[in-house]
Amino acid sequence: MASSSGNKSYAKLLQENKLWAAGKIKEDPDYFNRLAHLQTPEFLWIGCSDSRVPANEITGTQPGEIFVHRNVANLVINTDVNLLSVLDYAVKHLKVKHVIICGHYGCGGIKAATTNTDYKYVLNMWLRNIKDVYRLHRAELDSIHDEELRCDRLVELNVTEQLMNLAKTSIIQRAWKEEQRPDLHGWVYGLKDGLIKPVFEMKAGTHIDPLYEYDDL
Ligand code: CO
Repeated sequence: MASSSGNKSYAKLLQENKLWAAGKIKEDPDYFNRLAHLQTPEFLWIGCSDSRVPANEITGTQPGEIFVHRNVANLVINTDVNLLSVLDYAVKHLKVKHVIICGHYGCGGIKAATTNTDYKYVLNMWLRNIKDVYRLHRAELDSIHDEELRCDRLVELNVTEQLMNLAKTSIIQRAWKEEQRPDLHGWVYGLKDGLIKPVFEMKAGTHIDPLYEYDDL
C-alpha cells in the first residue's frame, strides 16, 4: 500500500479539480447548473492529442464553447468511427457553424511519418496516412532542404488534406446542401510563439473534385 508521493501525482489533479470547481461557483453560483442543462457549442475542433495544444486554453474559450476531438496528428480518416461519430453528432445535432482542424508545428506524429522507423502495428497504420500526404506533395516537400522547415510545411499540407477529407464526407456535403454550414477552417498552432496561423479555408458549399461529390444526398 505504501507509495511515494511521486506515485500519487494524479492526486494533485483531484485536489486542483476541487479548487477549480469551488472557484467557479464563487464567481458564478449558477455556473454548473447552466452548463449541465445546455451545450450549444458553435465550433467543432479537431486537433492533435499533443498535451501542449489544449483547444480551450489557446483560444480563450470556456467549457461549453468548443466540441473537441483529438487524435495523433489531427487526421480525418474515413473509416475512423470515433471521429465520424463526433463529426456526425456535432454537425447534425449540435449544428456547429464551424469545423476547425488545428495542427501544430513540431508535431511528433508528422515527424515520425517522415522517417523509416518501424513504430510497429497500430502506429504504422496510423502514420501511413501522413506518408500519403507527403507523397501527394512530394515535389514541393523534397525541394525543402532544411528538415525542420520541411516538417513544418508537411504540418500545413496535412491540415489542408485533412480538411479536404472532411469535405469528402457525406456528413459535411449534406449539411452544406441543406443548411449552408459549417465552414471548414485549417489552422496551425505554433508551439514556439503560441500563435495560430490560418492556412486553408473552405466555405460551406465549396465544390471539390466531382469524383467525391454525392448527388443523392
Ligand atoms: Co502533434
